[in-house]
Amino acid sequence: MGLWQLLLFWGLSQVWASSEGPAENFTFRALQISSFVNSSWVLTDCSGWLGELQTHSWCHDSDALRFLLPWSLGNFSEQQWEDLLQLFQFYLLKFQRLVHGFVRMLRGDYPIEIQVCAGCKVNSGSTTETFLLAAYQGNDALSFQGNSWRPAPEAPPWTALITNGLNQDEVTTEMAQHLLRETCPQLVLGLVEAGKAELEKKEKPVAWLSRGPTPGPDRLLLVCRVSGFYPKPVWVTWLRGEQEQPGSRRGDVLPNADGTWYLRVTLDVAAGEAAGLSCRVKHSSLGGQDIVLYWEAEHRVSVGWIISAVVVFLLVLIVGFMTWRKRRRFNEDIL
Ligand SMILES: *[C@@H]1O[C@H](CO)[C@@H](O)[C@H](O)[C@H]1NC(C)=O
Ligand SMILES: *[C@@H]1O[C@H](CO)[C@@H](O)[C@H](O)[C@H]1NC(C)=O
Ligand SMILES: *[C@@H]1O[C@H](CO)[C@@H](O)[C@H](O)[C@H]1NC(C)=O
Repeated sequence: MGLWQLLLFWGLSQVWASSEGPAENFTFRALQISSFVNSSWVLTDCSGWLGELQTHSWCHDSDALRFLLPWSLGNFSEQQWEDLLQLFQFYLLKFQRLVHGFVRMLRGDYPIEIQVCAGCKVNSGSTTETFLLAAYQGNDALSFQGNSWRPAPEAPPWTALITNGLNQDEVTTEMAQHLLRETCPQLVLGLVEAGKAELEKKEKPVAWLSRGPTPGPDRLLLVCRVSGFYPKPVWVTWLRGEQEQPGSRRGDVLPNADGTWYLRVTLDVAAGEAAGLSCRVKHSSLGGQDIVLYWEAEHRVSVGWIISAVVVFLLVLIVGFMTWRKRRRFNEDIL
């Protein structure tokens, strides 16, 4: 390899390394759940999420937008929030009327549950992806793509009637586009800036292995516990060598009292096959240095503990015996 090629190669690898830096994507999701109990009764709850963190909530019985974190205002002014809330109230009325209208048109039955998820993902290269999806009775029904509504692939045939209806309403379509493409990314950037300290917070996990209740004769339940990590996304699995064990059972990620998270991943194995298995933990706080705990090693550690305990016990006995002998000799000397 010539010097030029070497230099070029070095240069490219530098570019590669720097472009691989802390590239992060931030997604904002607004979720709406509306239960249409009957032709006049609707319950709607909404929430706003930046990644895994809930930032906003709106509930039908207070009709107030609540800012859940100290930085939930982002960089929007109170006036901007006021305008957004008004727009939202206008949308909600229109949405309810529209759904009741479709139910009448299609002779549908109540109760109905509709979920809407809308938002944007701002990528590190500051490109933006937007999404707006609606589900009917828990199944994907339609989505807004580009500048029009489309039925979801598995949606019932009547969904096309609804998307056609919605596509004729140009004002709402343009409004949706504006909110998704302009307002949402600005909100995200403002939130990320205002919430920097909390979003950049990282807590390293602690992991340990133990044995769970025996699942059956000649079987072992290996338990890998991971606790104290932040943020929430974590990857934990049981491996043999580099091979992921398909039987790994992942629990729910549960909150600790201090705002960090906890996770338990178990593996049910034949007693003879536990040796050589390991639990691997990947987390953003670890900077690529995964935690790897070997079942065998853990086992050896416990054997080590037993040996130490026995040694300490013997030492105590010997010291005790010698003191006792000394004292006896002392007593004998006195007598
Ligand atoms: C961010 O999103 C882009 C495009 O979706 C993806 O290629 C990239 O891997 C993502 N980066 C991270 C850190 O998730
Ligand atoms: C709708 O349901 C509510 C609550 O169950 C009830 O009070 C109301 O009378 C119902 N309205 C109609 C039109 O059935
Ligand atoms: C909020 O910050 C974003 C990104 O820095 C910017 O594009 C937007 O104009 C800001 N909005 C206000 C109201 O300052």
